[in-house]
Amino acid sequence: MTQILNGNLVSKERMETLKQRVGRLGGRPPALHVIRVGDDVASEIYVKKKIEKCQFVGIQSKEWPLQASTSQQELLDLVERLNQDDSVDGVLIQLPLPDHVGAGQVLEALKPAKDVDGFHPYNLGKLLAREVGLVPCTPLGIMSLLEHYDIEVAGKKVVVIGRSRIVGRPLSLLFDQAGGTVTVVHQLTKDPAEVCKQADILVAACGRPELIGPERVKEGAVVIDVGIHRLPSGKLCGDVQFEKVKDHCSWITPVPGGVGPMTICSLLENTVQAYQTKRL
Ligand code: GUN
Repeated sequence: MTQILNGNLVSKERMETLKQRVGRLGGRPPALHVIRVGDDVASEIYVKKKIEKCQFVGIQSKEWPLQASTSQQELLDLVERLNQDDSVDGVLIQLPLPDHVGAGQVLEALKPAKDVDGFHPYNLGKLLAREVGLVPCTPLGIMSLLEHYDIEVAGKKVVVIGRSRIVGRPLSLLFDQAGGTVTVVHQLTKDPAEVCKQADILVAACGRPELIGPERVKEGAVVIDVGIHRLPSGKLCGDVQFEKVKDHCSWITPVPGGVGPMTICSLLENTVQAYQTKRL
């Protein structure tokens, strides 16, 4: 019988633990600052959720809502100000940024020690070198979810669909570190369905609503769905056809309530890590 990888439940448990850890810290609480540029509705909702959860675990938070017309230089100036401010432990620059801003340059301006998203090349390099750094939140949350349910990665065939800087690439490195044999599927992959069908652990991070159907899933596979989309009907869905795939696999993440809450949980864990290890 298929079992659900319940991100709501696991993140709640981990956040309770984190709350206790924060409660035991001496001195001021950890502080997270969130920069949000423009009025992207999804970003507004995501940031609101992150700030709510900060309150729950006892992390101080501040949002910087900036107008869409904010120039790249103004943004770089704010990042530098937060870099210099010792009372700020973590800074999150909510993506996407407006087109006139070079996201890469802004992310690179952030002090790596405060990069709680783990997107700075320094932190991505640390991950590649298998050294301690700040790890991107969605990949980290997925690994925490598998660990919670004692799902073994070592020796397994892992297929990650998508190779973004935020999810696919760092996640493939984490699976590799955990002893998986990792294949990344992308737009140029020949016969992607056949490659997916080999996977013991299949991760859909392609950003295409319900692209992954049962024909791409091996019987008994573990299926992780990173996508979240709103269909014209108003219903939320992921990159996986949940109803059709669920009977083919051993474990599956729902959407919503799977990977999403784990991402937020990892952000809070990274913020506490940044607070405790003031590096660079
Ligand atoms: N936009 C969508 N997901 C994310 C995320 O994990 N971090 C940031 N900064 N922006 C996002």
